[in-house]
Amino acid sequence: MRVVSGIQPTGNLHLGNYLGAIVNWVKMQEDGDCFFFLADLHAISLPTNAAELSASTREMAAALIASGVDPDRSTLFNQARVPAHAELQWLLSGTARMGWLNRMTQFKEKSGKNKEGSSIALYAYPVLQAADVLLYRATHVPVGEDQKQHLELARDIAEKFNTDTNTETFVLPEPYIGKTAARIMSLRDGSAKMSKSDPSDMSRINLSDDSDLIAKKVRKARTDPEPLPETMEGLAERPEARNLVTIYAALANVPTADVLSEFAGKGFGDFKPALADLTVAVLEPVSARFNELKDDTTALDAILEAGGEKAAAAAAPALSDTYRALGLLSGR
Ligand code: TYM
Repeated sequence: MRVVSGIQPTGNLHLGNYLGAIVNWVKMQEDGDCFFFLADLHAISLPTNAAELSASTREMAAALIASGVDPDRSTLFNQARVPAHAELQWLLSGTARMGWLNRMTQFKEKSGKNKEGSSIALYAYPVLQAADVLLYRATHVPVGEDQKQHLELARDIAEKFNTDTNTETFVLPEPYIGKTAARIMSLRDGSAKMSKSDPSDMSRINLSDDSDLIAKKVRKARTDPEPLPETMEGLAERPEARNLVTIYAALANVPTADVLSEFAGKGFGDFKPALADLTVAVLEPVSARFNELKDDTTALDAILEAGGEKAAAAAAPALSDTYRALGLLSGR
């Protein structure tokens, strides 16, 4: 099992990232050959500030290590240290079709009404993401639900490239999307996903929040006046309530049915304090480790440098096969 996944280093690691993706990264280290990276090249698709980007790349590395990503077992690096990502992106740009990229919902969401003013990078973003996984011949890509469309595109690109060049250059990657926490929603609006770009910080729980702030965010989370039902079907029309039950189940690592059998008939006056306590209990040790690690820039840079070297070596075969398959005389 070759496992590859990435996270953008802008903003904080929030509970959606943690439960939707990172928990699975940590688990997959048990029996996978894992490559995890900070997607700093993706980050420049939106306006960034140089000093902030390098600081937040280190900080996100610290957050991942604090969450349990072990740099001794997994290859942890930032994309910019491995030029093969950008190189393969260009090589795949001959295969990716405009029509495919035009269907990507993330570009539509992020560009909004300002398509003309959006960067080329925001549009070509999914081709870089395809390069990220195809470069390592990933078999499994652990992500939240929102990345599914990008991975389907990566499979389409890989398949077309192999067919067009009559080679088996790329392995088709499988998205690995956990069942319970595939899509954690905003605490303020059950129809929007929890996201770093939401202007309201009350909409998400960040790894860097202290216990009081976590408790406050849970207390203020939007809900309804009804008690909790006995089954998840009873939450079909109650997205905010469903989200809180989902978060509880994912944090406790139990099925949602178990949460409802404990809390059925109780209102949010009982449920919210229990959820706040559980969230604090799970995140407190992670945030303590994060605070210990985050300022040690020398140690973090050394980890990313070593990871970058290992990643570059692992990426070399697929990159040179790609040049060869296209008839490009690259000297690789
Ligand atoms: P990013 O940085 O937005 O998110 C990192 C991971 O967290 C998951 N996630 C969520 N899961 C559940 N509920 C949520 N509310 C939620 N919000 C985020 C994401 O699905 C993701 O798994 N384009 C990617 C980064 C990337 C990548 C890759 C991922 C670049 N190259 C190659 C996989 C493979 C992104 O922006 O994720």
